[in-house]
Amino acid sequence: MAAKKRDDGIGRVGTLAEPTGMQAWSPDDGHLLDVQNLAVEFRTRDGVAKAINRASFHLDQGESLAILGESGSGKSVTAQAIMGILDSPPGFVTGGQVFFRGVDLLKLPEDQRRMVRGRRIAMIFQDALSALNPVFTVGWQIAEMFRVHKGLNKSDARAEAIRLMERVNIPAATQRAGNFPHQFSGGMRQRIMIAMALALDPEILIADEPTTALDVTVQAQIMELLGELQAETGMGLILITHDLGVVADVADRINVMYAGRIVEAAEVHDLYAHPAHPYTEGLLESIPRLDQVAGELKAIGGLPPNLTRIPAGCAFNPRCRYAQDICRVDPVPPLVELGGGRSSACHFTHELLAGKLVPAGKLVPAATQVPTATRANRAASEVAAVIEEGIDE
Ligand SMILES: Nc1ncnc2c1ncn2[C@@H]1O[C@H](COP(=O)(O)OP(=O)(O)OP(=O)(O)O)[C@@H](O)[C@H]1O
Ligand code: SF4
Ligand SMILES: [Mg+2]
Repeated sequence: MAAKKRDDGIGRVGTLAEPTGMQAWSPDDGHLLDVQNLAVEFRTRDGVAKAINRASFHLDQGESLAILGESGSGKSVTAQAIMGILDSPPGFVTGGQVFFRGVDLLKLPEDQRRMVRGRRIAMIFQDALSALNPVFTVGWQIAEMFRVHKGLNKSDARAEAIRLMERVNIPAATQRAGNFPHQFSGGMRQRIMIAMALALDPEILIADEPTTALDVTVQAQIMELLGELQAETGMGLILITHDLGVVADVADRINVMYAGRIVEAAEVHDLYAHPAHPYTEGLLESIPRLDQVAGELKAIGGLPPNLTRIPAGCAFNPRCRYAQDICRVDPVPPLVELGGGRSSACHFTHELLAGKLVPAGKLVPAATQVPTATRANRAASEVAAVIEEGIDE
Protein backbone atom coordinates (compact mmCIF):
# COMPACT_ATOMS: atom_id res chain seq x y z
CA MET A 1 0.00 0.00 0.00
CA ALA A 2 1.63 3.23 -1.12
CA ALA A 3 1.82 6.14 1.29
CA LYS A 4 -0.89 8.67 0.53
CA LYS A 5 -0.50 12.35 1.29
CA ARG A 6 -3.49 14.46 2.24
CA ASP A 7 -3.59 18.15 1.62
CA ASP A 8 -5.63 19.23 4.62
CA GLY A 9 -3.18 18.21 7.29
CA ILE A 10 -3.10 21.37 9.36
CA GLY A 11 -5.85 22.51 11.65
CA ARG A 12 -8.34 19.95 10.42
CA VAL A 13 -10.02 19.66 13.79
CA GLY A 14 -11.15 23.23 13.80
CA THR A 15 -12.43 23.36 17.36
CA LEU A 16 -9.13 22.23 18.87
CA ALA A 17 -6.34 24.59 19.76
CA GLU A 18 -3.08 23.86 17.94
CA PRO A 19 -0.20 23.04 20.27
CA THR A 20 2.57 25.59 20.00
CA GLY A 21 4.69 25.32 16.88
CA MET A 22 2.49 22.89 14.95
CA GLN A 23 1.00 25.50 12.61
CA ALA A 24 4.22 25.77 10.67
CA TRP A 25 4.48 22.08 9.78
CA SER A 26 3.70 20.60 6.39
CA PRO A 27 4.35 17.04 5.12
CA ASP A 28 7.25 18.38 3.06
CA ASP A 29 9.02 19.41 6.27
CA GLY A 30 9.48 15.89 7.53
CA HIS A 31 7.70 12.88 8.89
CA LEU A 32 4.31 13.07 10.56
CA LEU A 33 5.79 11.20 13.51
CA ASP A 34 9.53 10.94 13.98
CA VAL A 35 10.79 9.00 16.98
CA GLN A 36 14.50 9.50 17.63
CA ASN A 37 16.62 7.42 20.03
CA LEU A 38 13.73 6.84 22.41
CA ALA A 39 14.80 5.30 25.70
CA VAL A 40 12.45 4.14 28.46
CA GLU A 41 13.30 2.34 31.66
CA PHE A 42 11.27 0.92 34.52
CA ARG A 43 12.84 1.29 37.96
CA THR A 44 11.58 -1.70 39.86
CA ARG A 45 12.59 -3.54 43.02
CA ASP A 46 14.24 -6.18 40.83
CA GLY A 47 16.39 -3.56 39.13
CA VAL A 48 16.20 -1.21 36.18
CA ALA A 49 14.40 -2.76 33.21
CA LYS A 50 15.58 -1.16 29.99
CA ALA A 51 12.29 -1.44 28.14
CA ILE A 52 13.20 0.73 25.13
CA ASN A 53 16.80 1.13 24.07
CA ARG A 54 17.34 4.01 21.65
CA ALA A 55 14.55 3.17 19.24
CA SER A 56 14.25 5.38 16.12
CA PHE A 57 11.52 5.16 13.51
CA HIS A 58 9.06 7.31 11.62
CA LEU A 59 5.53 7.34 10.25
CA ASP A 60 4.21 9.40 7.35
CA GLN A 61 0.71 10.52 6.56
CA GLY A 62 -1.40 7.78 5.06
CA GLU A 63 1.16 5.16 5.99
CA SER A 64 0.72 1.99 7.95
CA LEU A 65 3.55 0.78 10.18
CA ALA A 66 3.47 -2.50 12.07
CA ILE A 67 5.50 -2.95 15.25
CA LEU A 68 6.14 -6.61 15.75
CA GLY A 69 7.78 -8.62 18.51
CA GLU A 70 7.24 -11.22 21.21
CA SER A 71 5.69 -10.44 24.56
CA GLY A 72 7.81 -8.01 26.57
CA SER A 73 9.76 -6.63 23.60
CA GLY A 74 8.61 -3.07 24.27
CA LYS A 75 5.80 -2.60 21.75
CA SER A 76 3.20 -1.21 24.14
CA VAL A 77 5.74 0.86 26.04
CA THR A 78 6.72 2.49 22.75
CA ALA A 79 3.07 3.41 22.18
CA GLN A 80 2.63 4.59 25.76
CA ALA A 81 5.69 6.83 25.48
CA ILE A 82 4.31 8.39 22.28
CA MET A 83 0.91 8.92 23.89
CA GLY A 84 2.39 10.19 27.17
CA ILE A 85 0.56 7.54 29.21
CA LEU A 86 3.53 5.64 30.65
CA ASP A 87 2.95 4.09 34.03
CA SER A 88 5.26 6.54 35.82
CA PRO A 89 6.69 5.72 38.26
CA PRO A 90 8.07 3.11 37.72
CA GLY A 91 8.41 4.00 34.00
CA PHE A 92 10.54 6.94 32.83
CA VAL A 93 11.52 8.27 29.44
CA THR A 94 15.28 8.61 29.84
CA GLY A 95 16.20 9.87 26.40
CA GLY A 96 15.20 10.70 22.86
CA GLN A 97 12.60 12.76 21.07
CA VAL A 98 9.10 12.10 19.75
CA PHE A 99 8.43 14.65 17.01
CA PHE A 100 4.79 14.97 15.96
CA ARG A 101 4.44 17.38 13.06
CA GLY A 102 7.88 18.72 13.94
CA VAL A 103 7.18 19.35 17.63
CA ASP A 104 8.86 17.24 20.30
CA LEU A 105 5.94 15.87 22.33
CA LEU A 106 8.28 14.98 25.18
CA LYS A 107 9.00 18.67 25.70
CA LEU A 108 5.37 19.85 25.60
CA PRO A 109 3.77 20.89 28.88
CA GLU A 110 1.07 18.46 30.03
CA ASP A 111 -1.86 20.73 29.09
CA GLN A 112 -0.64 20.90 25.48
CA ARG A 113 0.13 17.22 25.41
CA ARG A 114 -3.46 16.57 26.43
CA MET A 115 -4.59 18.45 23.32
CA VAL A 116 -2.75 15.86 21.22
CA ARG A 117 -3.59 12.71 23.15
CA GLY A 118 -6.76 10.97 22.04
CA ARG A 119 -7.59 13.77 19.63
CA ARG A 120 -4.74 13.97 17.17
CA ILE A 121 -3.06 10.74 18.17
CA ALA A 122 -5.68 8.18 19.21
CA MET A 123 -5.16 4.67 20.52
CA ILE A 124 -7.17 1.48 20.68
CA PHE A 125 -6.37 -1.47 22.90
CA GLN A 126 -6.76 -5.22 22.89
CA ASP A 127 -9.40 -5.31 25.59
CA ALA A 128 -12.33 -3.28 24.26
CA LEU A 129 -14.68 -4.44 27.03
CA SER A 130 -12.64 -2.93 29.82
CA ALA A 131 -12.05 0.25 27.82
CA LEU A 132 -15.81 0.85 27.41
CA ASN A 133 -17.99 2.04 30.27
CA PRO A 134 -20.41 -0.80 31.15
CA VAL A 135 -23.18 1.48 32.47
CA PHE A 136 -23.69 3.65 29.38
CA THR A 137 -25.00 2.64 25.97
CA VAL A 138 -22.41 2.56 23.20
CA GLY A 139 -24.31 5.22 21.25
CA TRP A 140 -24.16 7.55 24.23
CA GLN A 141 -20.42 6.88 24.70
CA ILE A 142 -19.58 7.66 21.08
CA ALA A 143 -21.90 10.69 21.04
CA GLU A 144 -20.21 11.99 24.20
CA MET A 145 -16.98 12.40 22.20
CA PHE A 146 -18.79 14.76 19.82
CA ARG A 147 -20.61 16.61 22.60
CA VAL A 148 -17.58 17.18 24.81
CA HIS A 149 -14.87 17.72 22.22
CA LYS A 150 -16.72 19.19 19.26
CA GLY A 151 -19.54 20.99 21.05
CA LEU A 152 -22.37 19.27 19.14
CA ASN A 153 -25.87 19.27 20.62
CA LYS A 154 -27.42 16.02 21.81
CA SER A 155 -29.28 15.06 18.64
CA ASP A 156 -26.44 16.00 16.26
CA ALA A 157 -23.98 14.08 18.42
CA ARG A 158 -26.24 11.01 18.36
CA ALA A 159 -26.59 11.27 14.58
CA GLU A 160 -22.79 11.46 14.25
CA ALA A 161 -22.41 8.46 16.56
CA ILE A 162 -24.79 6.40 14.43
CA ARG A 163 -23.00 7.51 11.27
CA LEU A 164 -19.69 6.30 12.72
CA MET A 165 -21.23 3.00 13.89
CA GLU A 166 -22.44 2.44 10.35
CA ARG A 167 -19.00 3.31 9.01
CA VAL A 168 -17.37 0.63 11.14
CA ASN A 169 -19.97 -1.82 9.81
CA ILE A 170 -22.14 -2.34 12.88
CA PRO A 171 -25.43 -3.71 11.51
CA ALA A 172 -28.67 -1.92 12.51
CA ALA A 173 -26.63 0.90 14.01
CA THR A 174 -29.63 3.07 14.90
CA GLN A 175 -31.13 0.34 17.09
CA ARG A 176 -27.84 -0.93 18.43
CA ALA A 177 -26.76 2.51 19.57
CA GLY A 178 -29.09 1.88 22.52
CA ASN A 179 -27.29 -1.31 23.58
CA PHE A 180 -24.70 -1.67 26.35
CA PRO A 181 -21.13 -2.95 25.71
CA HIS A 182 -21.80 -6.43 27.13
CA GLN A 183 -24.56 -6.91 24.52
CA PHE A 184 -21.97 -6.92 21.71
CA SER A 185 -19.55 -9.63 20.55
CA GLY A 186 -15.79 -9.07 20.94
CA GLY A 187 -15.40 -8.09 17.29
CA MET A 188 -18.31 -5.63 17.45
CA ARG A 189 -16.92 -4.10 20.65
CA GLN A 190 -13.58 -3.59 18.90
CA ARG A 191 -15.47 -1.83 16.06
CA ILE A 192 -17.07 0.44 18.66
CA MET A 193 -13.63 1.25 20.08
CA ILE A 194 -12.42 2.07 16.58
CA ALA A 195 -15.44 4.34 16.07
CA MET A 196 -14.69 6.17 19.33
CA ALA A 197 -11.03 6.56 18.38
CA LEU A 198 -12.00 7.98 14.99
CA ALA A 199 -14.64 10.37 16.36
CA LEU A 200 -12.14 13.20 16.71
CA ASP A 201 -10.58 12.58 13.31
CA PRO A 202 -7.08 11.73 14.57
CA GLU A 203 -4.01 12.14 12.40
CA ILE A 204 -2.47 9.00 13.86
CA LEU A 205 -4.19 5.89 15.17
CA ILE A 206 -2.18 3.48 17.30
CA ALA A 207 -3.80 0.05 17.51
CA ASP A 208 -2.20 -2.07 20.25
CA GLU A 209 -2.97 -5.74 19.55
CA PRO A 210 -6.49 -4.81 18.40
CA THR A 211 -7.36 -8.33 17.26
CA THR A 212 -5.52 -10.61 19.68
CA ALA A 213 -8.66 -11.56 21.60
CA LEU A 214 -10.67 -12.28 18.44
CA ASP A 215 -11.05 -15.36 16.28
CA VAL A 216 -9.23 -15.58 12.96
CA THR A 217 -12.13 -14.51 10.71
CA VAL A 218 -12.97 -11.52 12.87
CA GLN A 219 -9.26 -10.59 13.09
CA ALA A 220 -9.13 -10.37 9.31
CA GLN A 221 -12.31 -8.27 9.18
CA ILE A 222 -11.01 -5.78 11.76
CA MET A 223 -7.66 -5.52 9.96
CA GLU A 224 -9.45 -4.93 6.69
CA LEU A 225 -11.59 -2.24 8.31
CA LEU A 226 -8.52 -0.50 9.76
CA GLY A 227 -6.88 -0.59 6.33
CA GLU A 228 -9.98 0.90 4.67
CA LEU A 229 -10.34 3.64 7.27
CA GLN A 230 -6.68 4.50 7.03
CA ALA A 231 -6.91 4.79 3.23
CA GLU A 232 -10.10 6.83 3.47
CA THR A 233 -8.94 9.31 6.10
CA GLY A 234 -5.24 9.51 5.22
CA MET A 235 -4.30 9.03 8.87
CA GLY A 236 -1.07 7.32 9.86
CA LEU A 237 -1.63 3.90 11.40
CA ILE A 238 0.64 2.09 13.86
CA LEU A 239 -0.33 -1.55 14.29
CA ILE A 240 1.20 -3.30 17.26
CA THR A 241 1.18 -7.08 17.11
CA HIS A 242 3.06 -10.23 17.98
CA ASP A 243 1.55 -11.97 14.95
CA LEU A 244 3.28 -11.42 11.63
CA GLY A 245 0.39 -13.07 9.80
CA VAL A 246 -2.29 -10.53 10.75
CA VAL A 247 -0.58 -7.39 9.46
CA ALA A 248 0.62 -8.59 6.06
CA ASP A 249 -2.21 -7.07 4.05
CA VAL A 250 -2.46 -3.81 5.96
CA ALA A 251 1.09 -2.72 6.81
CA ASP A 252 3.39 -0.81 4.46
CA ARG A 253 6.44 -1.24 6.69
CA ILE A 254 7.35 -3.36 9.69
CA ASN A 255 9.62 -2.65 12.65
CA VAL A 256 10.68 -5.83 14.41
CA MET A 257 11.50 -5.31 18.10
CA TYR A 258 13.53 -7.51 20.40
CA ALA A 259 14.43 -6.67 24.01
CA GLY A 260 13.52 -3.01 23.57
CA ARG A 261 15.44 -2.48 20.33
CA ILE A 262 14.39 -2.33 16.72
CA VAL A 263 16.37 -5.17 15.18
CA GLU A 264 14.94 -4.99 11.68
CA ALA A 265 12.94 -2.40 9.75
CA ALA A 266 11.71 -3.06 6.23
CA GLU A 267 8.95 -2.73 3.69
CA VAL A 268 6.52 -5.53 4.41
CA HIS A 269 7.12 -7.50 1.22
CA ASP A 270 10.92 -7.30 1.53
CA LEU A 271 10.73 -8.53 5.08
CA TYR A 272 8.54 -11.50 4.17
CA ALA A 273 10.57 -12.33 1.10
CA HIS A 274 14.01 -12.31 2.72
CA PRO A 275 14.36 -11.41 6.39
CA ALA A 276 17.57 -9.58 7.14
CA HIS A 277 17.72 -10.57 10.82
CA PRO A 278 17.75 -14.08 12.31
CA TYR A 279 15.01 -13.11 14.77
CA THR A 280 12.69 -12.09 11.94
CA GLU A 281 13.57 -15.30 10.16
CA GLY A 282 12.56 -17.22 13.29
CA LEU A 283 9.27 -15.31 13.55
CA LEU A 284 8.49 -16.12 9.91
CA GLU A 285 9.22 -19.79 10.46
CA SER A 286 6.81 -19.85 13.37
CA ILE A 287 3.81 -18.75 11.24
CA PRO A 288 1.57 -21.83 10.82
CA ARG A 289 1.29 -23.08 7.24
CA LEU A 290 -1.56 -25.21 5.99
CA ASP A 291 0.83 -27.44 4.06
CA GLN A 292 2.72 -28.27 7.25
CA VAL A 293 2.21 -31.52 9.10
CA ALA A 294 1.78 -31.44 12.85
CA GLY A 295 5.04 -30.88 14.71
CA GLU A 296 6.77 -29.12 11.82
CA LEU A 297 6.14 -25.64 13.17
CA LYS A 298 9.42 -24.13 14.27
CA ALA A 299 9.01 -21.93 17.33
CA ILE A 300 12.04 -19.87 18.31
CA GLY A 301 13.73 -21.76 21.14
CA GLY A 302 14.17 -20.12 24.55
CA LEU A 303 12.60 -16.98 25.94
CA PRO A 304 13.20 -13.25 25.53
CA PRO A 305 15.62 -11.90 28.18
CA ASN A 306 14.73 -10.32 31.47
CA LEU A 307 15.12 -6.63 30.66
CA THR A 308 16.96 -5.98 33.92
CA ARG A 309 19.68 -8.36 32.71
CA ILE A 310 19.95 -8.05 28.93
CA PRO A 311 22.80 -10.26 27.64
CA ALA A 312 26.00 -8.57 26.46
CA GLY A 313 26.43 -8.09 22.74
CA CYS A 314 23.41 -9.03 20.67
CA ALA A 315 20.46 -9.55 23.03
CA PHE A 316 19.20 -12.36 20.78
CA ASN A 317 22.45 -14.37 21.00
CA PRO A 318 21.32 -17.03 23.53
CA ARG A 319 18.50 -18.01 21.14
CA CYS A 320 20.19 -17.42 17.82
CA ARG A 321 21.14 -20.47 15.78
CA TYR A 322 23.87 -18.46 14.05
CA ALA A 323 25.47 -16.89 17.14
CA GLN A 324 29.27 -16.70 17.17
CA ASP A 325 31.75 -15.31 19.69
CA ILE A 326 31.45 -11.76 18.37
CA CYS A 327 27.71 -11.86 19.10
CA ARG A 328 28.26 -12.48 22.83
CA VAL A 329 30.33 -9.40 23.57
CA ASP A 330 29.61 -5.69 23.40
CA PRO A 331 29.15 -3.55 21.43
CA VAL A 332 25.56 -4.30 20.52
CA PRO A 333 25.27 -4.70 16.73
CA PRO A 334 23.91 -1.35 15.49
CA LEU A 335 20.87 -0.96 13.26
CA VAL A 336 22.56 -0.54 9.88
CA GLU A 337 20.89 0.87 6.75
CA LEU A 338 20.90 -1.64 3.92
CA GLY A 339 19.30 0.62 1.31
CA GLY A 340 15.75 0.53 -0.02
CA GLY A 341 14.33 1.53 3.34
CA ARG A 342 15.70 -1.57 5.07
CA SER A 343 17.85 -1.83 8.12
CA SER A 344 19.00 -4.64 10.36
CA ALA A 345 20.99 -5.02 13.58
CA CYS A 346 22.96 -8.24 13.08
CA HIS A 347 26.69 -8.81 12.56
CA PHE A 348 25.86 -11.25 9.76
CA THR A 349 23.02 -9.50 7.93
CA HIS A 350 24.75 -9.62 4.55
CA GLU A 351 25.65 -13.30 4.90
CA LEU A 352 22.05 -14.10 5.92
CA LEU A 353 20.62 -12.24 2.93
CA ALA A 354 23.09 -13.99 0.64
CA GLY A 355 22.08 -17.41 2.00
CA LYS A 356 25.60 -18.01 3.35
CA LEU A 357 24.71 -18.51 7.02
CA VAL A 358 23.99 -21.92 8.48
CA PRO A 359 23.42 -22.80 12.15
CA ALA A 360 26.48 -22.31 14.37
CA GLY A 361 27.60 -19.57 12.04
CA LYS A 362 29.59 -21.75 9.67
CA LEU A 363 29.87 -20.35 6.18
CA VAL A 364 28.18 -22.55 3.58
CA PRO A 365 30.64 -23.80 0.97
CA ALA A 366 30.03 -21.94 -2.28
CA ALA A 367 28.95 -25.07 -4.16
CA THR A 368 26.01 -25.68 -1.82
CA GLN A 369 24.78 -22.11 -1.53
CA VAL A 370 21.16 -21.50 -2.43
CA PRO A 371 20.82 -18.42 -4.66
CA THR A 372 19.26 -15.54 -2.75
CA ALA A 373 16.53 -15.04 -5.34
CA THR A 374 15.42 -18.66 -4.99
CA ARG A 375 15.27 -18.41 -1.20
CA ALA A 376 13.45 -15.11 -1.41
CA ASN A 377 10.88 -16.27 -3.93
CA ARG A 378 10.19 -19.45 -2.04
CA ALA A 379 9.74 -17.66 1.28
CA ALA A 380 7.52 -14.99 -0.24
CA SER A 381 5.21 -17.42 -2.00
CA GLU A 382 4.95 -19.62 1.08
CA VAL A 383 4.02 -16.72 3.31
CA ALA A 384 1.60 -15.23 0.77
CA ALA A 385 -0.17 -18.58 0.53
CA VAL A 386 -0.45 -18.86 4.30
CA ILE A 387 -1.89 -15.39 4.63
CA GLU A 388 -4.44 -15.91 1.88
CA GLU A 389 -5.48 -19.22 3.33
CA GLY A 390 -5.70 -17.78 6.85
CA ILE A 391 -7.96 -14.94 5.72
CA ASP A 392 -10.18 -17.19 3.63
CA GLU A 393 -11.02 -19.34 6.64
N1 LIG B 1 4.16 -1.14 34.58
C1 LIG B 1 5.35 -1.71 34.44
N2 LIG B 1 6.16 -1.91 35.48
C2 LIG B 1 7.38 -2.48 35.34
N3 LIG B 1 7.90 -2.87 34.15
C3 LIG B 1 7.14 -2.69 33.08
C4 LIG B 1 5.82 -2.11 33.14
N4 LIG B 1 5.32 -2.05 31.89
C5 LIG B 1 6.27 -2.58 31.08
N5 LIG B 1 7.36 -2.96 31.78
C6 LIG B 1 8.60 -3.53 31.24
O1 LIG B 1 8.68 -3.19 29.87
C7 LIG B 1 8.80 -4.36 29.10
C8 LIG B 1 8.09 -4.17 27.79
O2 LIG B 1 6.70 -4.15 28.05
P1 LIG B 1 5.62 -3.98 26.91
O3 LIG B 1 4.31 -3.88 27.61
O4 LIG B 1 5.99 -2.86 26.02
O5 LIG B 1 5.73 -5.34 26.12
P2 LIG B 1 4.96 -5.75 24.80
O6 LIG B 1 5.98 -5.87 23.72
O7 LIG B 1 3.84 -4.82 24.56
O8 LIG B 1 4.45 -7.20 25.16
P3 LIG B 1 3.00 -7.89 24.99
O9 LIG B 1 3.03 -8.52 23.63
O10 LIG B 1 2.96 -8.90 26.08
O11 LIG B 1 1.94 -6.83 25.13
C9 LIG B 1 8.27 -5.48 29.95
O12 LIG B 1 8.89 -6.69 29.64
C10 LIG B 1 8.64 -5.03 31.33
O13 LIG B 1 9.99 -5.39 31.61
S1 SF4 C 1 24.31 -10.60 15.81
FE1 SF4 C 1 24.78 -12.76 16.07
S2 SF4 C 1 23.39 -13.45 17.71
FE2 SF4 C 1 22.62 -11.50 16.94
S3 SF4 C 1 21.12 -12.07 15.42
FE3 SF4 C 1 23.07 -11.74 14.34
S4 SF4 C 1 24.02 -13.76 14.24
FE4 SF4 C 1 22.40 -13.88 15.77
MG1 LIG D 1 1.78 -4.97 24.70
